[in-house]
Amino acid sequence: SGQRTHKIAAIPADGIGPEVIGAGLEVLEALQRRSDDFRLEVKQFDWGSDYFRKHGRMMPEDGLDQLRDHDAIYFGAVGAPDIPDHVTLWGLRLPICQGFDQYANVRPTRILPGIPTPLRDRGVGDLDWVIVRENSEGEYSGHGGRAHRGLPEEVATEVAIFTRVGVTRIMRFAFQIAQSRLRKQLTVVTKSNAQRHGMVMWDEIAAEVSREFPDVRWDKALVDAMTVRMTLHPETLDTVVATNLHADILSDLAGALAGSLGVAPTANIDPERRFPSMFEPIHGSAFDITGKGIANPVAAFWTACQMLDHLGETDASIRLMKAIETVCSAGISTPDVGGTATTREVTDAVINAIFGSN
Ligand code: NAI
Ligand code: MG
Repeated sequence: SGQRTHKIAAIPADGIGPEVIGAGLEVLEALQRRSDDFRLEVKQFDWGSDYFRKHGRMMPEDGLDQLRDHDAIYFGAVGAPDIPDHVTLWGLRLPICQGFDQYANVRPTRILPGIPTPLRDRGVGDLDWVIVRENSEGEYSGHGGRAHRGLPEEVATEVAIFTRVGVTRIMRFAFQIAQSRLRKQLTVVTKSNAQRHGMVMWDEIAAEVSREFPDVRWDKALVDAMTVRMTLHPETLDTVVATNLHADILSDLAGALAGSLGVAPTANIDPERRFPSMFEPIHGSAFDITGKGIANPVAAFWTACQMLDHLGETDASIRLMKAIETVCSAGISTPDVGGTATTREVTDAVINAIFGSN
């Protein structure tokens, strides 16, 4: 038959990760039943903090090799109260991002119908952004170290690395995203007034790459001023590109302005498709609500849309996004966005909407 098959590695990991990824896999299953033209072959990996407690590592030594021949990775969250965050993060999520050179992190943000925004007098349509985060170097390159540990003269360095190759490729990717969107508009975020080496190079490379995209309007913003613009003038922004650290912070703000971290998705992309890309909700393992059955699955659903898009299953992606919006408009939502529904109820409603749609 002409059925397309995609191999998915599911890594639910910690806290509410298994709850929202489990819900996401049910929704993906429903999409496959709804339209027979593609099939997902899902393999589950039990890596994360439980694995760490048993084996002293977050994933096996050959973990990346086990993932390599998949078409995409569907990831939950890492983090446990009894294990330091830098151990869980550097033990699983970052090695995947870096090992597979997923240098473009893509974070769409929109106010969904029925989801209240903390911004006064704003709603659907006022905020529609894609934040592109440099995901391979910059402030999170891991360069640095500590000497004279514990002594008064202890010193620690955390060196931000910006390479011409790294900045050029993320800039080109961001211009391409901007070009693909209705408004064809890109805002380049830096802190080039205070940081006069790496950030000034960003601005220069932005100007160079912009010449390849004459139809994209672009401007620059300093990261501190950017927080104000996002909050007070959200409609002036469309596509945004920023460094690893800056975009990390700005996208949490974006998630909050759009209603909740529980709805915010993200994709870690290798644009050259040499390796599997990874799709995940932005939120962490949320131990405060783990096991209560009230985790918002919308971020995990929305990132499944990103995954389907990446796999070329555009129809299924659009169908799922419509189902999410239908359910949100109907007010079927979890407590983090002001509703009273459980994860189960939101998931069932989205599955029903998938079958109810044309
Ligand atoms: P968090 O994102 O886990 O939670 C922040 C707040 O948002 C909590 O009150 C939580 O209940 C709420 N929340 C998050 N996702 C939600 C959802 N889907 N539905 C409803 N409410 C939701 O961030 P936090 O508390 O700072 O970190 C907890 C752990 O997660 C830490 O160990 C941290 O290192 C880790 N973490 C992991 C990330 C990842 O795997 N990509 C990202 C962020 C944090
Ligand atoms: Mg973050």
